[in-house]
Amino acid sequence: MNILDTHTITTHDADEDIRNRDIKIYINGEIVHRNEAKVSVYDSGFMLGDGMWEGMRLYNGKWAFFDEHMDRLFDSCKAISLDIGMDREGIADAMKQTAEANNMHTDVHCRLMVTRGVKVKPFQHPSLSRSGPTIVIIMEHSKPVDRLKTQGISLASVPQVRGLPHSQDAKFNSHSKLNCVIACLQAEAAGADEALMLDPNGFVNTTNACNFFIVRKGEVWTSTGDYCMNGVTRQKVIDLCRQNGIPVFTKNYSLYEAYSADEAFLTGTFGAQTPIREIDGKIIGDGTAGPMTHRIRSLYKELIKANTE
Ligand SMILES: Cc1ncc(COP(=O)(O)O)c(C=O)c1O
Repeated sequence: MNILDTHTITTHDADEDIRNRDIKIYINGEIVHRNEAKVSVYDSGFMLGDGMWEGMRLYNGKWAFFDEHMDRLFDSCKAISLDIGMDREGIADAMKQTAEANNMHTDVHCRLMVTRGVKVKPFQHPSLSRSGPTIVIIMEHSKPVDRLKTQGISLASVPQVRGLPHSQDAKFNSHSKLNCVIACLQAEAAGADEALMLDPNGFVNTTNACNFFIVRKGEVWTSTGDYCMNGVTRQKVIDLCRQNGIPVFTKNYSLYEAYSADEAFLTGTFGAQTPIREIDGKIIGDGTAGPMTHRIRSLYKELIKANTE
């Protein structure tokens, strides 16, 4: 049995929606039932994790912060010489087709994946990917479970760190998430829901799937950003704080300050802001979402509304 079969709380828990059993998936211009949606075993994404992806959410028929997600995707693909083969309008059109084929309008999560394509031989060299890229769009009806907003989740600090940008830059939203998966397994073994990862200097950095913030004496702190995903939600939270007179700092800090924070929360496209109940067994604040988390969450909700009107 997989170790994760025994555990149910993740930061991406969504309400069960039976409509997802019959969703249609976009693969290279075709839209097929999920049971028919298949990629080659020679695909470089499958073989090597050689691809990039974006997670986006649909609200009222509009993709929130689409441009920001495209900036990250195109920057990442350029950095690894992966030619997407279409521009952002082409991607928007493919997503529109997929949403229409599924009759989806709101509370939808999209995973857009672009790999270097199908290889002629099962080896690493990028030149062996002769037909590509492979573009897949999975959209699911998806609403985060209420528990994530109210109860909060537990974190364990783990030995797996975020590396220096000249090994594999944490800004790559690559198909290979092994660094994060190893961290997640370590958190699981420690009995926590998600891993709190440090940077190579021992400062608090990020979690395995989301960005991480603490609140101390009315100030909002997050890492410098040097070793973590350049999260769209992370940047929106920083911008919202600045626009609304909330002191916000991107800085180095250690577990010492994280343990004694008044509040802590995660950010990500799926869950927006998810409160942290405890870190390494130490309860944060009263263990539930505090006033700053509530305030930022409602500012973010308004921003999403304005962005998707
Ligand atoms: C490791 C990691 N951190 C943070 C995030 C959150 O980023 P965003 O706010 O853009 O969803 C993601 C999402 O892909 C991620 O994979």
